[in-house]
Amino acid sequence: MKLHFAPASPFARKVRILIKELGLEESVALHDVGAVTPVSNNNDLNLINPLGMLPVLVLDNGDSLYDSPVICEYLNHIADGVFYPTDTDRRFRTLRLQALGDGILDLSVAMRYEIAMRPENLQWQTWLDFQDEKVQRGLDTLEALCNSFEASPLIGEITVACVLGYRDFRFADVNWRDGRPALSEWFDQIMLRDSLIETVPG
Ligand code: BEZ
Repeated sequence: MKLHFAPASPFARKVRILIKELGLEESVALHDVGAVTPVSNNNDLNLINPLGMLPVLVLDNGDSLYDSPVICEYLNHIADGVFYPTDTDRRFRTLRLQALGDGILDLSVAMRYEIAMRPENLQWQTWLDFQDEKVQRGLDTLEALCNSFEASPLIGEITVACVLGYRDFRFADVNWRDGRPALSEWFDQIMLRDSLIETVPG
């Protein structure tokens, strides 16, 4: 199998963490595609994902899987992993946490493109402010939830770690730790894992 990814992508980081956690490093080759943005075109990438987005996992039979939730669940499935519980309550709690984390990432990445790629005189501050409000509400919800996070991380907790790592990477000037002591402490602990240390963006 081959994972096509960009090192800065927090969505690809989720997959790279899971590959390490599941011991699949020998089975999944990594292909760094480089920078892919909403205003770039990569014909090779379009052939394996019509949306032209990363990450994409190309299987040995030539099929491709996208996006990160689908790839992560596939890897967990083939490795008989423990990142998706079968018990209904725990399963949907972790899927919801993943959705919350992915949502914060979608908003953060869209804001990043607006700030870093659009000419400054064309940037839409009202749009940025509204997206940031959603991000801050999402982070506040993580602060409220984190005392009930799983001790051994599931896909939800892995996603949250990628959210906080991306905020540190691209939004270091807006310190998410301010007013969120429990989440800060939780992040310091999860960041001791090799899979997270080895995939820090930057
Ligand atoms: C970034 O550079 O922030 C980025 C790159 C790929 C996907 C998402 C974000």
